[in-house]
Amino acid sequence: MLDEQAKKTILRKIPHGLYICGVKDGEEVNGFTVSWLMQASFKPPLVVNCVKQDSKSHEMIKTSGVFAISFLDAEQKHLAQKFFQPQRRVGHNRFDDVEFYLGETGCPIISESLGYVECQVVGTVAQGDHTVYVGEVIAAGVHREGESLRLETTGWQYGG
Ligand SMILES: Cc1cc2nc3c(=O)[nH]c(=O)nc-3n(C[C@H](O)[C@H](O)[C@H](O)COP(=O)(O)O)c2cc1C
Repeated sequence: MLDEQAKKTILRKIPHGLYICGVKDGEEVNGFTVSWLMQASFKPPLVVNCVKQDSKSHEMIKTSGVFAISFLDAEQKHLAQKFFQPQRRVGHNRFDDVEFYLGETGCPIISESLGYVECQVVGTVAQGDHTVYVGEVIAAGVHREGESLRLETTGWQYGG
């Protein structure tokens, strides 16, 4: 039988970074804070991005088949905070007061981030409450040097 408390405690020990996943649907852009993200292959370069099924962004990735990941630096906790409140609850586009530009995929990239990867969805695992989008990295850029933001330093939890 699964020990619920042990499962939660031990899964929360998986280290995570914090990123902003930029998405689009036609002209509309959106973005959300993502932590369940990692590299999954060298050749071709793949990342896996686990996206909450009931989020607006989930629908947008499903439709467009693309996403961009902006890498936050250790001092950008405020950006992660801004992008974890669902757009439908905030009532306005969270990109309204954040400087960004559109990448090759048309997805928004945060100008002040450390850098980015842009991905084309090449696989989908739709099990449970998050969909695993497998993304092939088709573009990448480095804006500047810096240390990346890690979930462990924020005092927040996402997992368990
Ligand atoms: C610390 C933290 C980490 C998160 N990590 C993820 C994640 O890995 N995947 C995900 O889909 N949502 C994650 N979320 C929740 C999304 O950021 C949130 O659902 C988002 O605001 C959805 O916005 P949308 O409905 O406009 O797409 C995380 C939230 C927090 C607070």
